[in-house]
Amino acid sequence: MGQSTTPPKPDGVPLFGHALEFSRDPFGALEQWADRGDLVHLEFPGETFYLVSDPEIVEEVLHDGDGRFTIAAQQQRAFAGIEDHAVTTTAGNRWQQLRRALQPAFTRDTIDRYADAIVEQTIRRIEMWDDGEEIDLHREMRLLTLDVLAETLLSVDIRGDEDVVLNATDALIDRSDPRRPGQLVPGWVPTPTERRFRRAVTELDDYIDRCLEARREADREKRARNGSKNTNKTRTDACSVLLEAHDRGELTLEEVRHNLVALLLAGSDTSALSLTYCWHLLHEHPDVRRSLVAECDEHVGDGRPDLESLEHLETHRNVVAETLRLYPPAWNTMRKATEPVTLGGYQLPAGAELLLPQWVLHRDERFWDSPTAFRPSRWEGDDADRPQYAYFPFSGGPRHCIGMHFARLELHLALATMVDRVALEVALEEPLTFAPTIALRPEPEITATVRRH
Ligand code: HEM
Repeated sequence: MGQSTTPPKPDGVPLFGHALEFSRDPFGALEQWADRGDLVHLEFPGETFYLVSDPEIVEEVLHDGDGRFTIAAQQQRAFAGIEDHAVTTTAGNRWQQLRRALQPAFTRDTIDRYADAIVEQTIRRIEMWDDGEEIDLHREMRLLTLDVLAETLLSVDIRGDEDVVLNATDALIDRSDPRRPGQLVPGWVPTPTERRFRRAVTELDDYIDRCLEARREADREKRARNGSKNTNKTRTDACSVLLEAHDRGELTLEEVRHNLVALLLAGSDTSALSLTYCWHLLHEHPDVRRSLVAECDEHVGDGRPDLESLEHLETHRNVVAETLRLYPPAWNTMRKATEPVTLGGYQLPAGAELLLPQWVLHRDERFWDSPTAFRPSRWEGDDADRPQYAYFPFSGGPRHCIGMHFARLELHLALATMVDRVALEVALEEPLTFAPTIALRPEPEITATVRRH
């Protein structure tokens, strides 16, 4: 008998389909459903999803060059009202133009120039902590990554205004929680969640407008001083490249604003979550933390890691890689089929929404020994014969994370700067649990006690 042309569908319950099981244990449910096959059909009230757990199919979808897949409707809905005109939510030609406009701000050379700023901001943050103080770990890491992003990509000092961005991120993330009561209510209904979201977005938009106006003013002054017409050319930060594209008539002001918002939101919480999970894992594995300290002692003489010392910090790189495997901040990438497609031998209709969950593939026993164990050493000279898309924390293909190099540089440098100065003792009585929102957030928040060396 040949393979059925429709993917398997685990048992659900009338009306709610698979939603109840998902809301009880989202990540456990996904893993169990993935056990049913490489492509599985799931029903949620009003929505159908196809869960993919085969790396070859993930690769086929992400690298599709024929326009068979596009951005998922779910993703556009999640960012509606805040990033509608950003690279994160657009498709087709518009997306290509936005991505091309941003690219000069993300070349390796440009990003590498931010190394000192990352180290400086990390030292500044550590200096705010007293020995023995209890900190809200995730919040402190968010403040750190946001200060870094603002200083580098926008060339602004955001200190004191960080909550404007944090509030908007929180409102966006809360709204994306599929377990939220009222999740099925349309976005235009002014529920308390929606009202809070809109207030936070207005404040953030105002803040970005003030930054843009300040940048314009600074550029005008510089032009007047130099008597030259072109001032932006000397800068390559994201703010400049977007404003230049605006001046050339390629981007509207709203597109400039939405893309800056996208960078602040996409770039701060993801990196902050990675650092939070690094510290959680290092607290559970003090031997690994000690080996990081020893690596710093050997290779970072003055306690200020740089591009050269990073070359030698192999254990740091392995700790970050392993943290991103176990706790991928972007735990589920999505796409939508633009036409009827055949995938893994199954036929899917046009409009099919695909879940490509990093969470599931990064923990798949077919590709990882002891998948739930934290073992940075598995990355040492890693030559395991596993498919490329068994591990894809930054996604892949043309839409892969534009900030990947920035994020890796920041995580390696910030970690090395921190472990050399402090140990953060994480207080967790329960095993970690997470909210299934657009980012893999810990529930409840994680606190830590600062121990200075
Ligand atoms: C550990 C940190 C990070 C992780 C794990 C991460 C992961 C991801 C993933 C999985 C995607 C989805 C790509 C897709 O749909 O195929 C993405 C997109 C994106 N990321 Fe990141 N990211 C991180 C940090 C950053 C940083 C630091 C920035 C900016 C400075 C950034 C900016 C973006 C943008 C703009 C997109 C949308 C790209 C597009 O659709 O063309 N990310 N990221």
